[in-house]
Amino acid sequence: MSGDPVTDAGRFAVLISGRGSNMLSLVNAAQAGRIPALPAVVISNVAAAPGLAAASDLGVPTAVVDHRASANREEHDGKVLQVLTEHGADLVCLAGYTRLLSPDFIGAYPGRILNIHPSLLPAFPGLHAQRQAMEHGVKISGCTVHFVDEQLDHGPIVAQAAVPVQDDDDEDLLAARILEAEHRLYPEALRRYYLGHLVVSGRRVRIQEPDDE
Ligand code: GRF
Repeated sequence: MSGDPVTDAGRFAVLISGRGSNMLSLVNAAQAGRIPALPAVVISNVAAAPGLAAASDLGVPTAVVDHRASANREEHDGKVLQVLTEHGADLVCLAGYTRLLSPDFIGAYPGRILNIHPSLLPAFPGLHAQRQAMEHGVKISGCTVHFVDEQLDHGPIVAQAAVPVQDDDDEDLLAARILEAEHRLYPEALRRYYLGHLVVSGRRVRIQEPDDE
């Protein structure tokens, strides 16, 4: 620690593959001072991801690491780790990143990778979570911010928000309603992370404010 509030600030990276609306919610919150950390870099495995231009417009460095240029997952993840190191990232936020992470990647950021998923985990992990929720007929779905471990959509749960499923919903309507909740939940989880309020014990994550016992 240098004692300089700017150089000492946390630096989070966001990994995206597409639209990047959750990434924008994190960057906007940080730039507005609601998260005590700086957006270090936005990395996409897809060069055409619309979120890349949106991040650049906000002055955030961006990088493309195209997975098709690597022979395997480990090689690709090694390149992503290199970019993260170059930008001094201390936390990795997955936000619509469609690649599974290798054990080596997870080991390089132990307890320092977050993801947002559009369901109330452990219900409906994997792709098309909103469609899964509709097809199952649940009345309440939502979104989950969780730490990433080696199983898909599985690590310790940091925060969840419930969202009602309406009788006349289709998948798109439900996804849009959940997305609004995502844009509130993820920045708040990051704020808590950087304030040092998250206490992880096994699968349980408690929010402990400084005055708590
Ligand atoms: C979000 O629904 C997120 O929960 C899921 O992928 C979607 C990404 O949307 N993991 P966006 O790219 O953040 O707009």
